[in-house]
Formats: sequence, structure tokens, C-alpha cells
Amino acid sequence: MEMPVHGFQTVDSLDFRRGMSRLGAAVNIVTTKAADGPYGFTASAVCSVSDTPAMLLACLNRTSSCFPAFEKAQYFGVNTLSSGHEALSNLFGGKTAMAERFAGGQWREGCSGSPLLADALVHFECELVQSLDLGTHRVLFGRVIGLATGDCEDALFYVARRYATLSTREA
Ligand SMILES: Cc1cc2nc3c(=O)[nH]c(=O)nc-3n(C[C@H](O)[C@H](O)[C@H](O)COP(=O)(O)O)c2cc1C
Repeated sequence: MEMPVHGFQTVDSLDFRRGMSRLGAAVNIVTTKAADGPYGFTASAVCSVSDTPAMLLACLNRTSSCFPAFEKAQYFGVNTLSSGHEALSNLFGGKTAMAERFAGGQWREGCSGSPLLADALVHFECELVQSLDLGTHRVLFGRVIGLATGDCEDALFYVARRYATLSTREA
């Protein structure tokens, strides 16, 4: 995709990261099932795109060890973490073998084969409908084909490079 041409500079990437660290976000484990087993990574860059039809997006760094699996994937799961999942978030946050990552939680396969976390705050099962490479990342657009909410009502958040919890109970 062509980037627009204009007279402004892009901000420095470290300044951008510092700015983005103030943007609190839910923490998710994005998963897929490949021929050689399950793959997953922690992602805060997940958000809703549309409700009709239900679609969401997730951003994956193309240097990630998970990338080849997601490049071939037709389906993926988004498992939103609850309070108490900090260790699991760190485990899926990089540099750990996939088998070790998945041994850290209770997983089952959804109807598409995507790994779903038993005690997630909510999990979404998605069919990949489009993907877009922008900068360092691939943006995965998924049509939501299934979802389920868990019993825990406290969400795990990541803000200012640390974890926080927030109740999802409505007032
Ligand atoms: C809280 C948190 C949020 C993260 N968010 C993202 C994200 O949105 N996209 C992404 O590609 N990586 C994100 N990462 C980093 C990936 O989880 C990590 O790079 C991934 O597990 C791949 O590592 P690997 O190459 O060792 O497999 C995040 C990590 C943490 C701890």
C-alpha cells in the first residue's frame, strides 16, 4: 500500500511508544491452529471494527515467531484475559516455546480449531477475512463466528507498561 505524501515528518518511534504507553488496553492472547500445533501471542493491539457483521482486528509483528502460522491461518481466536492472567500474558509475550506457552493455561479447541482459553474474560472465534501489512505489523481482520463470556468479571489491562485490573460489571 502507498503511503500518503505530505510535508510532515513521522514522530520518533520511541516517542510514539512512550505516547502509546499511556493508552490503556485490554490484554488478549491471539491463537491459531497450524499443521504442527497451536500458536499464540499476547496482544494489546486488538479492537472492534464493526458490529454488522461482527468484525475485529488484531495486529501482529511480522518478525514474531508466530507469524508464519498466522500467515497461513484461515481462522484465529482472541482470548481476552482476566485478572490473575498476568503470568499467562507474560508467557505468551515472547521468547517461550509454544508448547510451554500452552501448558500454562487450560485450552480447548473451538469449532474452527482455534485454541480457546477456558477461563478467559471473553473469547472470540474469527474467520480471517482480510489482512494488511502496514509498517512492522500485519493487521488481521476477523469475522466473528463465535463468542463466549467467562465467569470472571475483572479485566486485565496494560497501561504505563504495567498491568492493572478493572471491573467489567455494569453500573
Ligand atoms: C502486554 C503485551 C502486549 C503485546 N501486544 C502485542 C501486539 O499487540 N502485537 C504484537 O505483535 N505483539 C505484542 N506483544 C508482544 C508479543 O506477545 C510477542 O512479541 C510475541 O509473543 C512474539 O514473540 P516471539 O517472536 O518470541 O514468539 C505484546 C506483549 C505484551 C506482554
